[in-house]
Amino acid sequence: MAQPKVMVFAGSARVGSLNKRFAKLAAERLDVLGGAATFVDLNDYPCPLFDEEIEAQGTPENVLKLRELLAEHDGVLIASPEYNGFITPLLKNTLDWLSRPHGDTPGLALFAGKPAGLIAASPGGLGGIRALPVVQHLLHNLNLVVIPPAMSLPGAADAFDDNGALKDEAKAQQLDALCLRLIKAMR
Ligand SMILES: Cc1cc2nc3c(=O)[nH]c(=O)nc-3n(C[C@H](O)[C@H](O)[C@H](O)COP(=O)(O)O)c2cc1C
Repeated sequence: MAQPKVMVFAGSARVGSLNKRFAKLAAERLDVLGGAATFVDLNDYPCPLFDEEIEAQGTPENVLKLRELLAEHDGVLIASPEYNGFITPLLKNTLDWLSRPHGDTPGLALFAGKPAGLIAASPGGLGGIRALPVVQHLLHNLNLVVIPPAMSLPGAADAFDDNGALKDEAKAQQLDALCLRLIKAMR
């Protein structure tokens, strides 16, 4: 596999999302380091709150588009905000929709065995670190192979320069190391 394809997205829809910023940077670094990243803004694919009755009426168009994207990629990189020490409703809802069987595709098949990198950003001092094990647990249940260690970014509101790069060199190196581990796992 010359250039492993990575689907990169954040568990936040808002325009000013710090996690989207972090995810976009990770996508850029994956490209530089030998991967082929696709940044996906979940704001472009609004999905209803999962409900089996909605599903029974037909899988929503945006879920189908996200399923296609996931199927085309060899791995994922997720930037997770932390809400009350936990995963965001958007991320949980998106992963629940993607976990469902559809047509001839069994449940979880789109995830099965794919490597997953995990990052989190928060304006607070802990950088979303409390949400990371929760997301890891969920990704494991989805049969993704979570590549350790995850990376948290504290003080994220001031962490990026005008070009979107990380100001802190040690953090920039940490992100590159995570991206390289993910690329290696996909290969
Ligand atoms: C409901 C809610 C709960 C939050 N809980 C936490 C928390 O537990 N820890 C934390 O560091 N930040 C918490 N925050 C602040 C978020 O980290 C902050 O809003 C962050 O910018 C959200 O991610 P985003 O910028 O990618 O949208 C919370 C925010 C909301 C709206």
